[in-house]
Amino acid sequence: MNQTSRDGFTSSFGVLVATLGSAVGLGNIWKFPSLTGANGGAGFLLVYLLATLLVGLPVMIVETMLGRAARANAVSAFDRVAPRRQWWWKSIGWMGFAAALLILAFYSEVAGWVYAYVFKAMAGQIATTDRQVAGAVFAELVANPLSSLLWQWVVLAVTGSIIMFGVARGIEAVTRRLMPLLFILLLVLCARSLTLPGASAGLSFLFSPDLAKITPAVVLTALGLAFFKLSIGMGCMLTYGSYFRDNQNIPATATRVMFADLSVSLLAGMAIFPAVFAFGFEPAAGPSLVFMTIPAVFTAMPGGTLFMTLFFILTAIASVGAMLSLLEVPVAILSERFGLGRKRASLTTIAAVAALGVPAALSSSLTSDLKVLAMNPFDLFDFLSSNVLLPLGGIMVCLFVGWVYGLPEMARQLSNDGALRNQRLVSVVFLLVRFVAPLSIAAVLLHGLKLF
Ligand code: TRP
Repeated sequence: MNQTSRDGFTSSFGVLVATLGSAVGLGNIWKFPSLTGANGGAGFLLVYLLATLLVGLPVMIVETMLGRAARANAVSAFDRVAPRRQWWWKSIGWMGFAAALLILAFYSEVAGWVYAYVFKAMAGQIATTDRQVAGAVFAELVANPLSSLLWQWVVLAVTGSIIMFGVARGIEAVTRRLMPLLFILLLVLCARSLTLPGASAGLSFLFSPDLAKITPAVVLTALGLAFFKLSIGMGCMLTYGSYFRDNQNIPATATRVMFADLSVSLLAGMAIFPAVFAFGFEPAAGPSLVFMTIPAVFTAMPGGTLFMTLFFILTAIASVGAMLSLLEVPVAILSERFGLGRKRASLTTIAAVAALGVPAALSSSLTSDLKVLAMNPFDLFDFLSSNVLLPLGGIMVCLFVGWVYGLPEMARQLSNDGALRNQRLVSVVFLLVRFVAPLSIAAVLLHGLKLF
């Protein structure tokens, strides 16, 4: 298929914004702080940084490369880049299809909480630094089955109507203008949080590691977060790569996105943990942590209600960019492989997510006792996708590129046919994906799942 007959990003800047839009989302503002808090703080952060640099970035580079080389969805791509008889590589794409639906099922629920908090912030219902009150507001929201479902459907309606129109110019324009604003607001929050009395306990929680807290399960969670943050291991970057332009510098784009994404997470961490300790919240509170702490920081400053509302609006917008990239994986597979047409492919995907989303949304009410592996549906979907499917997809991408696709073809692709002088960098990435990444992912996965 040639480039012109397919939808795609139109400028190098557009590629950067869309990729950043996929990476930055609830992962930074909700998942990163919750997991860092629940897994002991600085030690977790250290492992997460290592996983991002040594495994995440190289996988991101080669996954994007495969997409651009194939110019097809996550399943069909392997019809094009894999040798004829090795049909099994397509399972990477099918696993990605499943992972996308699982992630969307709980992600849309969290996005629903964010939407609800926009209105709660406006109404002044969450303007409190009292952890009892803050906890009660959150508990009441998630324990109500009807409102949980309704908010999730609002989120699905919003993202579904955008994805139908293809590579959306509207959202791209919106994200590009509003993301810097989120960044600034986070800076303001950090400033306030860091100047609270007792803030330093939060900083040392975040930055002075206690190595004893790093268990195999913690390492697996950190690795899973690295994959989740960079949108890799399930064909999402592959699909976006298929819309990249021929002259896009893939390693440079991936590196920039990784650093930008990391800074947003660190800012969120520095906005939250000082306040957690200053106000006596519980760092290991899990999914509710952000929803209690962020309002408290805003409440402790002038103009709090306005900024708080703005903050949740911007977070809702950030979640849209990430969800669009998740939706794009099944939508591209359904429309290109089954000839469904953009609209029907989108509707089918949204319907599937809505169905899977029901048990996830009701996890704090009707399905809270529906336990598999001691987890309710919400936690199970999160665990299966981040800690199992994404690392597994990552290993397979590495094995494919490192042992089948090979260095010469990879060097040709990543240098844009010799236009970029980056041989040395490519060799390093090659060694990482051939040996380091697959071995360390396999070890972490087996160990973390207690399989050996
Ligand atoms: N990276 C996004 C976030 O942190 C979520 C996301 C978007 C994602 N696309 C993905 C996660 C693909 C895993 C795989 O919010």
